[in-house]
Amino acid sequence: MALQDKDRIFTNLYGTQHWGLQAAQKRGNWDRTAEIIAKGRDWIIEEVKQSGLRGRGGAGFPTGLKWSFMPKSNPDGRPSYLVVNCDESEPGTCKDRDIIRHDPHTLVEGCLMAAVAMNASAGYIYVRGEYYNEHLILQAAIEEAYAAGLLGKNAAGTGYDFDLYVHRGAGAYICGEETALIESLEGKKGMPRLKPPFPAAVGLYGCPSTVNNVETIAVVPEILRRGATWFAGFGRPKNSGTKIFCIQGHVNKPCNVEEEMSIPLRELIERHAGGVRGGWDNLLCVIPGGSSTPLLPKHICDDVLMDFDALREHKSGLGTAGVIVMDKSTDLIRAIARLSKFYKHESCGQCTPCREGMGWVSRVMDRMVEGRAEIEEISVLEDVTKRIEGHTICALADGGVWPVQGLIRHYRPMMEERIAAYKARIAAPMAPAAMPMAAE
Ligand SMILES: Cc1cc2nc3c(=O)[nH]c(=O)nc-3n(C[C@H](O)[C@H](O)[C@H](O)COP(=O)(O)O)c2cc1C
Ligand code: SF4
Repeated sequence: MALQDKDRIFTNLYGTQHWGLQAAQKRGNWDRTAEIIAKGRDWIIEEVKQSGLRGRGGAGFPTGLKWSFMPKSNPDGRPSYLVVNCDESEPGTCKDRDIIRHDPHTLVEGCLMAAVAMNASAGYIYVRGEYYNEHLILQAAIEEAYAAGLLGKNAAGTGYDFDLYVHRGAGAYICGEETALIESLEGKKGMPRLKPPFPAAVGLYGCPSTVNNVETIAVVPEILRRGATWFAGFGRPKNSGTKIFCIQGHVNKPCNVEEEMSIPLRELIERHAGGVRGGWDNLLCVIPGGSSTPLLPKHICDDVLMDFDALREHKSGLGTAGVIVMDKSTDLIRAIARLSKFYKHESCGQCTPCREGMGWVSRVMDRMVEGRAEIEEISVLEDVTKRIEGHTICALADGGVWPVQGLIRHYRPMMEERIAAYKARIAAPMAPAAMPMAAE
């Protein structure tokens, strides 16, 4: 059964109403905020744990547990910070964009509640550089909240002081990685660093910090208002809640939609995106969770569920829930080669396996598109991707090689056919009419 309107958290996802405070309050935002916060830090963390909320930024780490890593007090005088990740640069993903431009008060209120849970005195929302208009709306929503006494000193009458800032990035995929994001926020070049120490120990300006995705923070107020059991009632155990899916590619009606976690992929596409162009049987494959998650061929798409664990069982992932649908007209090798070029371009260059490896993978993939390769090179390519995976500072390189691994896992025969066709083409004698000299 589809998610009912009464259970939607993002009631203005499509911008049919105004984003401003007055309209947001009518929709239920900022309702009983002080009463909820009065229940205290431990209650908030426990409720978020019980709800089963897992981070919506890609890795799916349990949110309540992450918050519990933050120090309860700050005896050494260092403040704690909340950092919200709105870098959203994973190809196929545009959910945080719609939250900040149409429903920004879900996030602003969520920041206050999360800050109380982690004893943070300030929050920083790092917004993807290209989201210029969106960041203006978010900034305006924050100013409205200050004017209404919902932020700043004694925020929302809670007795808690909390400041919230928006910071625009310059448009770099790598700045979505949490440690690179922190470096960039500090005004440095956005380059990841090794963990540990984790940001909860040494984060922004060397202070305890927690980085969370926009959607993760924005769903918190409704979880606390309606209760952990309500949220945990959607989806399968350990995969609970509602989730925004971004459905695009060869569908009749691309859209963002909030649905119940664990919905079957086919139902998601047919119910909300008007189905696959040319019908379900015209489906070739789906990238289920943003460009870094390995593709799934049609026979898996027929009945796979859209949640963290089900997709992992098929060696893919929910990632950012950016669902990229490809029908049979797709040149799949070319599509994956394009992704390799993206990851090569976005590498920050610190780690040799990523800097050199992604360039090499991209060049080999370009030859695979033409078929200008030896059949044995497919295994060499696969082997090199496995040597890159897990051998770098951050997960950009993993995300860069997973699409190639998915292609080889499921479509090796297609790659072999392309190579054979190329060989046949160059071996065939050129017809006299096609030879320039003969035509003259
Ligand atoms: C290369 C790279 C890019 C990332 N980009 C984003 C991003 O744009 N937004 C995001 O929320 N998380 C991104 N992440 C994940 C973050 O490092 C971090 O895990 C996440 O913000 C934590 O939030 P969550 O626990 O709420 O999911 C990225 C990770 C990597 C390795
Ligand atoms: S894996 Fe790539 S992007 Fe990440 S730190 Fe290393 S070189 Fe930079």
